[in-house]
Amino acid sequence: MRIGIVIGSVREGRMGKPIGDWVAERARVQEDAQDVEWEVLDLKDFDLPVMTDENWAQAEDGPAEVHRWRDAVDACDGFVFVTPEYNRNIPGAFKNAYDLLSRQWMDKTLAIVAYGGLGGVRANEAWRVTVAAYNMHVVGSSVNLIRRVDFPGGRPALTDHHDASLAKVLARLVSLTRAVTAERERASI
Ligand SMILES: Cc1cc2nc3c(=O)[nH]c(=O)nc-3n(C[C@H](O)[C@H](O)[C@H](O)COP(=O)(O)O)c2cc1C
Repeated sequence: MRIGIVIGSVREGRMGKPIGDWVAERARVQEDAQDVEWEVLDLKDFDLPVMTDENWAQAEDGPAEVHRWRDAVDACDGFVFVTPEYNRNIPGAFKNAYDLLSRQWMDKTLAIVAYGGLGGVRANEAWRVTVAAYNMHVVGSSVNLIRRVDFPGGRPALTDHHDASLAKVLARLVSLTRAVTAERERASI
């Protein structure tokens, strides 16, 4: 079983990278998850174009960057979205990355680690509405990091309390992904 940890911001000096690294580090020592391969999918590494053709992912002559992204997402059974909040919503680059694909998201699982001035709560909720389009199964609880409290001075100040709250969300994600993956395999979805 493979779970992709998607780092969803691409700007210089982003908080997304250290937060994504923290999620990956904790995930790899998560209890009862020996069957999970955790893979970081950093949007900055994919250098995705703005979507101007909805068929790129499927088209043989679609951009190589989109095909690389398609294959990386396709290989995952579930995801952790590490998402900031920009202008009370999902960041444009992350929404674009989501829009570039379709069936690669279908019926898979998701947990959300959101961050921002108010813990990224509006981006978190926006994702839940968005991923319903592909029938994604989302863990109800999430991790919400508040900029001034949890990364003062632009550096993450994460404690045992954050580790414990992330571990709870990951535990739910792992058990949900096991169940959903078994059903996807049974139904050959
Ligand atoms: C364009 C932009 C818009 C933002 N809008 C919001 C917002 O609406 N609500 C909020 O809580 N934080 C907002 N922020 C603050 C970000 O959540 C915070 O800077 C966070 O670190 C951004 O993630 P990043 O560092 O990974 O890019 C905004 C930041 C940027 C750059």
